[in-house]
Amino acid sequence: MEYRILIVGSGAREHAIARSINKTQIDHQLFCIASNKNPGIINICDELILGDIENVDFIVKNAIQKKCNLAIIGPENPLSKGVVNRLKENNIPSIGPTKDLAQIETSKSFARDLMKEYNIDGLPIYQSFTSMNGVKECLANHGENYVLKYDGLAGGKGVKVSGEHIFNHEEALDYCQGIISSNGKFVIEEKFIGEEFSLMSFSDGKTLKHMPVIQDHKRAYEGDEGPNTGGMGTYSDKDHSLPFLNKEDVNKAKETNEKIVRALYKKFGERYIGVLYGGFMVTEDGVKVIEYNARFGDPEAMNVLTLLETDLLTIFKSMVSGDLDSADVKFRNQATVCKYAVPIGYPTNPAKGSSVDVSMIADDEVISYGSVNTQNDKIILAGSRALCITELGDTIAEAELVVEEKISKVKGSLFHRTDIGKIELINKKIERMNKIR
Ligand code: GLY
Repeated sequence: MEYRILIVGSGAREHAIARSINKTQIDHQLFCIASNKNPGIINICDELILGDIENVDFIVKNAIQKKCNLAIIGPENPLSKGVVNRLKENNIPSIGPTKDLAQIETSKSFARDLMKEYNIDGLPIYQSFTSMNGVKECLANHGENYVLKYDGLAGGKGVKVSGEHIFNHEEALDYCQGIISSNGKFVIEEKFIGEEFSLMSFSDGKTLKHMPVIQDHKRAYEGDEGPNTGGMGTYSDKDHSLPFLNKEDVNKAKETNEKIVRALYKKFGERYIGVLYGGFMVTEDGVKVIEYNARFGDPEAMNVLTLLETDLLTIFKSMVSGDLDSADVKFRNQATVCKYAVPIGYPTNPAKGSSVDVSMIADDEVISYGSVNTQNDKIILAGSRALCITELGDTIAEAELVVEEKISKVKGSLFHRTDIGKIELINKKIERMNKIR
């Protein structure tokens, strides 16, 4: 049977997915619904269809027209709009959960309530609000250590951490009032202290196959300073863990992802088919849950897909047919580092419209293109994270050296974080965790 696959989304994550799918021996055609003319995806796909990647009607219409029999949903917004439900109604299976199940990412209060209802460890003290009633008292109870979370999707900008983004209760109340004034909801929760890590798992709704654990760097500037971004770079170690984690931490994260999928099945009687992304923090009291995402992380996808040995389409096929338990999902035992080159001024006032030159990088396979367009054979900045370089090595330091060598050769109005994956930064994290535990 020929697979006719539709990828929704056109960032670096979707480029990495397309590249992995394209390695399969299975007969297939690849289509992509894209918001930008991504040069990497254009080279791989049979057809790139430009349009609104959040417009469910547009996605479903194209999936039917192209006779697709599998859809892969890259970003979260189409999931929140129920694209998987609509594709399912048209007998097109997806990698990505239906609208109800996607609430694990699309509603912060839903995710916390689910953990509470099914007794899943790692839950902070939390309270959800639909008005300002009780907000002052709740903040007073938390003192100076709290996190404010806009309930819905906000492209990573909805979470405000005390001492990092919000510096007193007055600012906190203003932020909460802003949400209520626009008819939104929010959650106030306990702030955890520790190091963050993410564990993504392939899920068919019954069985989970876990990927290597990754650490992302959300801050824009060196030393984890500056505004939050979608993620500036990621790494993982040869043993599929991170230098500041122990086996029990990783096992706890795996067990938590498994419990979430089971809880979603109990709640909705429906299988979670897709990638479940657990965002965790290791603290003095063990592993806590920061958030859940209903998709591959970006840039985390670049690390795990570069390490993946098993055919990705075969894994996706077994997720859809519910026999992931019989799939042998293997990752190379190597360290990996991925770094983004982003426009100068990103994320607040990013440069746009100028060209990027990657001709000094001989190996195109290591580049994943993100927010760029192809114009007259040139690569033009589109305003968000432009491209990333991913490399493997026997150590994190070795992989980092090669990434750094290559990313420094990219010419354009760009910057990247030189410190990600460097031994100095990693040692700081190890020392910090040694003090916390
Ligand atoms: N890198 C974080 C995310 O994909 O949400």
